[in-house]
Amino acid sequence: MNIPIITIDGPSGAGKGTVSRAVAKQLGWHYLDSGSIYRALAICALDCSADLDNIKLLVTLATDMRLVFQCDDSLVVILDGVDITERLPTEEVGSTASKIAAYPDVRAVLLQKQKDFCQSPGLVADGRDMGTVVFTQAKTKVFLTASAMERAERRFKQLKEKGIDANLSQITKDIEARDKRDSERKTAPLIAAEDATTIDSSNLSIEEVIAAVMALT
Ligand code: C5P
Repeated sequence: MNIPIITIDGPSGAGKGTVSRAVAKQLGWHYLDSGSIYRALAICALDCSADLDNIKLLVTLATDMRLVFQCDDSLVVILDGVDITERLPTEEVGSTASKIAAYPDVRAVLLQKQKDFCQSPGLVADGRDMGTVVFTQAKTKVFLTASAMERAERRFKQLKEKGIDANLSQITKDIEARDKRDSERKTAPLIAAEDATTIDSSNLSIEEVIAAVMALT
């Protein structure tokens, strides 16, 4: 059966998560936050003080980690029986995820875990390479972007709301470094699929972006 898929790719902080969850909810489809898979692996690596250059160890951690996603209004992520949801958004976890995500062998292990999310009646998948690598067959592909400054301000606000200590200029630097690493890596770089529609959310409200995506389905 041909399961319908919407892919929403783009840089960190463009609003992919909020938009994807809302679209999935409106359509009654499943939702994949692929970044949280990379972030969960980063938490595994940080917790065992893994050497981030030890690809073999990272591949073993990726193979062995047991991840459960519970998605309702918000996403709850359980790693090896422990709720790691609150640890996922931190900048340390994000930048560690971005380092780990540059290894093709690690990406290969995580590929099937992502494909498994494609289940009836449909899937909304958010990440960096959903439309270019993981779900190339998707009929609707979106590349959601926003200026680095705008994304840094949004991330700063989000972290503050969660009570996490944050510094705006540091976040801007981190976002720019992560964009650079994600865009310049050899495997599955952050680029828009040829058949994707680009939406710049810098001057749009979340509701406007959701409506723009829904109009493409
Ligand atoms: O989207 P999020 O910021 O949670 O992703 C964290 C990191 O995981 C990204 O900076 C990126 O390096 C990596 N990632 C990826 N491919 C995806 C999703 C995330 O390489 N599909």
